[in-house]
Amino acid sequence: MIQALFCRNVTKALGGRPLIADLNLDVEPREVVPLLGGSGSGKTTLLRLIAGLTDPDCGTIAIGDRIVFGGSRPVPPERRAVDMVFQDYALWPHMSVAGNLAFGLEARGLTRQDIDRRLKHALDATQLLPYRNRLPAMLSGGQQRRVAIARCLASRPSLILFDEPLSNLDAALRDDVRAEILQLIRSENMTAIYVTHDQTEALAVSDRLAVIRAGRIEQFDRPQVIYDRPINAFVASFMGGFSPLPGEASQGWFKIADQKIAPGRKRSGRPRSPRGAAGGRAGDARRRIESQPRSARLLLSGAAGDLS
Ligand SMILES: Nc1ncnc2c1ncn2[C@@H]1O[C@H](COP(=O)(O)OP(=O)(O)O)[C@@H](O)[C@H]1O
Ligand SMILES: [Mg+2]
Repeated sequence: MIQALFCRNVTKALGGRPLIADLNLDVEPREVVPLLGGSGSGKTTLLRLIAGLTDPDCGTIAIGDRIVFGGSRPVPPERRAVDMVFQDYALWPHMSVAGNLAFGLEARGLTRQDIDRRLKHALDATQLLPYRNRLPAMLSGGQQRRVAIARCLASRPSLILFDEPLSNLDAALRDDVRAEILQLIRSENMTAIYVTHDQTEALAVSDRLAVIRAGRIEQFDRPQVIYDRPINAFVASFMGGFSPLPGEASQGWFKIADQKIAPGRKRSGRPRSPRGAAGGRAGDARRRIESQPRSARLLLSGAAGDLS
C-alpha cells in the first residue's frame, strides 16, 4: 500500500542544534495520527517540514506516491496536497468566509463551477452556509475554527495537519470540538496528523499515536500498546500512570534497596517469580509491587538504556 505520508531520516538543525533528528514516520491513508510531545519537542517544526514551509537538511518526505523532498527538487507547499490548520486559524481578515475558502482554489486555476461545488459541500459539512458572506471578525472563535477546517475540506488535501487546534479553548469545550473535528475528518475520509501536548486528547483521537521527544519519534503504535508497553521510561512517564521506583537492574534481576525481584514480561503480568536463593526477601518485594493496582508491572529503565 502507498503511504499517505512517508518520512525517512528527516533531519533539520538550526544554528547547529538539531530540531528534528533522523526522524521516520509513515502514515497510512485515512489514518488520524496524534503527534504527542512536550513544548519545544519539534512538533510544529515537523509539520512545517511536511507542508514544505521549511526544507529539511536531509532525508526523504513523500506524500502519497510523490516525493516532495529528497527527490530532484523540493515540491513547493502549494503543490504538496497538504493543508495545515494553524493554532490561530490564519484566516484572511479582509475576505468573507466564502472568499477565504475560494482563494486557494482560484489560485490553483479550478473552474468557477468546481469552486462553487466544493464551497457548498465544505460550508454545508461545517454548518457555515448561513455565514458565507461574513468577515472572520464577525464570527465567534468556534466559527472561525470551522472556517479553517472548511477551507481544508474545500481544497481536498491528501493530508491535513492540525497544530494544537484546541490549545486556545476552555477545557470544557475541548471534548465537543475534538469530536466535531474527528467526525469531519472521518466522514470526509481524510488522513490527518494531529499535534497535541495533551495525553488525554491524543488517546481520544488515535488510530496510532506517535510520541516525539527532542525531534525524534520515541514510539509509534496503537495507544493501548503505548500505554501497556511504553518503550522507555520517558514514554511511560509522559503517558502517565507509572510511578518511578528507584533501584538497580542487572542480570535479569531488579534490586530495590536490598531486595531482588525479576521483571515479568507479560502484558499487565505480575513480576515473575524469582528463582533460587533470593527467597523470602524477594517475596516481600514482590508483594509490595503486587499491592499496587492490578495492572502493576515493571518497566526497567537505566542510564545505559531501557532494559525491558
Ligand atoms: N525559527 C526558529 N529559530 C530558532 N529556533 C527555533 C525556530 N523554530 C523552532 N525553534 C526551536 O526548535 C525547537 C522545536 O520547536 P517547535 O517545533 O516549535 O516545538 P513544539 O511545536 O513541539 O513546541 C524549540 O526548541 C524551538 O525553540
Ligand atoms: Mg508547536
